[in-house]
Amino acid sequence: MKIWVADAMDAEVKRLLADAGLEVAEKGGLAGEALGAALDGSQGLLVRGATKVTREVVARARDLKAVARAGSGVDNIDLEACRERGVAVFNTPGANAVSVAEHTWALVLGLLRQLPRAASSMAAGRWEKSELGGREVRGKVLGLVGFGRVGQEVARLGLAFGCRVQAHDPLVHVEDMVPGVDAATLDDLLATSDIVSLHAPLLPETRGLLSAERLARMKPGALLVNCARGALVDEAALERALAEGRLAGAGLDVFEREPPGDRPLLRLPQVLATPHVAANTPEAQRRAGIEAAAALRDYLSTGQAPGRVA
Ligand code: MLT
Repeated sequence: MKIWVADAMDAEVKRLLADAGLEVAEKGGLAGEALGAALDGSQGLLVRGATKVTREVVARARDLKAVARAGSGVDNIDLEACRERGVAVFNTPGANAVSVAEHTWALVLGLLRQLPRAASSMAAGRWEKSELGGREVRGKVLGLVGFGRVGQEVARLGLAFGCRVQAHDPLVHVEDMVPGVDAATLDDLLATSDIVSLHAPLLPETRGLLSAERLARMKPGALLVNCARGALVDEAALERALAEGRLAGAGLDVFEREPPGDRPLLRLPQVLATPHVAANTPEAQRRAGIEAAAALRDYLSTGQAPGRVA
């Protein structure tokens, strides 16, 4: 059996597949019909976020039995098309949780302590000690929208910092997941949190979740952090809320369109932006690649593996 590795993976991933007697083919950058045709003879497909497993790919890849996503979001895979054709889909939701949670906190702390402005001011030879005051994180109310593996990890770090942590997630019983975290409705969470951080998947029902109306309900002076998916937020409304001073800052690792290009939102001094790198650590990539490869190996040999999403 053959596994097509479409995105860059840790060397150990290929070793794991080869040790299981699976043939490995590696080539990135293919899309649509070209990817579907290249998959002839491959039973497994291993991807990160760059490769788009569209309906066209799934229909054309006639030997394909399983797709594994080394990472959490599966919005680059047409799950409905996979279900219709009986192609199993796996992801690795816990593998990058620590990295994404740590990056979330890097954005929060960077905003609270004005780190980008301080760094560029120092690099320009200035000493703006009195202009560059910050704020403490202890005692702040942290509101998490989405309480899966990443949200829970962000909560643990928030509790360690001395935050009061509340979370909203219609799919889990929040209080049972992390002791000390309170459940909240989305409206209450937005109205009472000093820091709102998004950790929900992008689904038809979560697209535009932070609409103009919901952004308007956020506590004045709050921070918004998004390391989940850009399309959860109405970016134009966010830009207005920041420019008008209703929100104090935004930490953004993800964007509605990636790369976002030269956008006024990104030039606002209250925005701390990074290019979707929250999970980009060797530790997370290694764990995600190995878990995804193991899911393909196990599914193709036994018909069962953990982490199946379709
Ligand atoms: C994920 O969904 O696993 C993360 O956003 C990482 C990524 O897509 O690069």
